[in-house]
Amino acid sequence: MNTTGIIGYRDYLVRRDGDADLLNRRLASREDFFGSLEANPIRSAHSVDRTTFERNLRRRRPEPGVDRRMLFLLATAKLNQAERFGVGLGETYGRNSGDDVPPERVYMELEEHYHTRLLAYVLDIFGLPFHVVAPPFVMRQFVKTAVFLPERVSFMFVGAAEMAGCIMFYELRRIGMELFADEPEVAAQIERLYSEILIDEVGHVGYCAARCTPAERAIMRRLYPRIGRLFARQTMEISLLTDREQLHALLDRPFDVDELSAGLSTETFLAAHP
Ligand SMILES: [Fe+2]
Ligand SMILES: [Fe+2]
Repeated sequence: MNTTGIIGYRDYLVRRDGDADLLNRRLASREDFFGSLEANPIRSAHSVDRTTFERNLRRRRPEPGVDRRMLFLLATAKLNQAERFGVGLGETYGRNSGDDVPPERVYMELEEHYHTRLLAYVLDIFGLPFHVVAPPFVMRQFVKTAVFLPERVSFMFVGAAEMAGCIMFYELRRIGMELFADEPEVAAQIERLYSEILIDEVGHVGYCAARCTPAERAIMRRLYPRIGRLFARQTMEISLLTDREQLHALLDRPFDVDELSAGLSTETFLAAHP
C-alpha cells in the first residue's frame, strides 16, 4: 500500500475541496464554485425538445432519428442517474462514514454527490430538468456489486470502474464541446463542468490503486477495458455517439493520466498509478 500517496491525496483533497460537512453534504470550495456558476448562468440558444428528452430518458435505446445533440444530453442525464444511484446507496449504507473510516472517504463520497450536480448543471444550460430515474437493470446490479463487495476486494473493482468512468467523462466532454462549438460559451461551460468531474475521478483512480497490492492493480488494469465496454453498452447513447473501434482502442491502451489531465485548469493527483 502506498501510504505516502494516500497521505498526499488527503492533503490534496483538503486543498481542493476545503472543509467537508457530511451532514449537509457540502464541501466548502465546491460551494464557492457553484456560487460562481449560479452568478453567471450560461444558456444555450439551441431549442431542445423537453418532451423528447424526457421520453427518451426512460428508454433503454433512444428513438430512431434522435440527433447527436440530444444523444449527448441523454448520455449526460443517464450518467447522472448511475452516479446518483451508486452514491445514494453507499451513503444509505454508511459505507464512507464512521471513526474507523479514513477521512478521504468522506471527501470522495461528497465529490460523487457533486458529480450528480455538475451533470445536472450541464442539462440546465439547455433548460432541461433534473429527474430521478433508476439506471438500467445491469447497471443497478453493477453498482450494487461495487457498493456491497467486501472492502478488501472492492478497491480493484471500484478502481477499474473509476478508470472506465474517466474515459467516459473524457470522451463526452470532447463530444459535447464539438457538438456545441457554434456557441463558444456553452462549449466552455460543458468543458468546465465535465473537467471538474474528471479531476475528481483521476483522484479516485489513484486512491483505489494505492489501496491495492501490485497483483490487485494488475487485475484492476485487466478489468478496466471490460467495464468501459459495459458502460458504453449499457448507456446506448454513448455507443451511438462514439466510434466503437476508437473507443475500444482507447480503452485497450495503457491508462494515460497525462493525456486525461492535459488542459485541466486544476492539478490532478494520482496517489498511485493503476
Ligand atoms: Fe463520479
Ligand atoms: Fe469516482
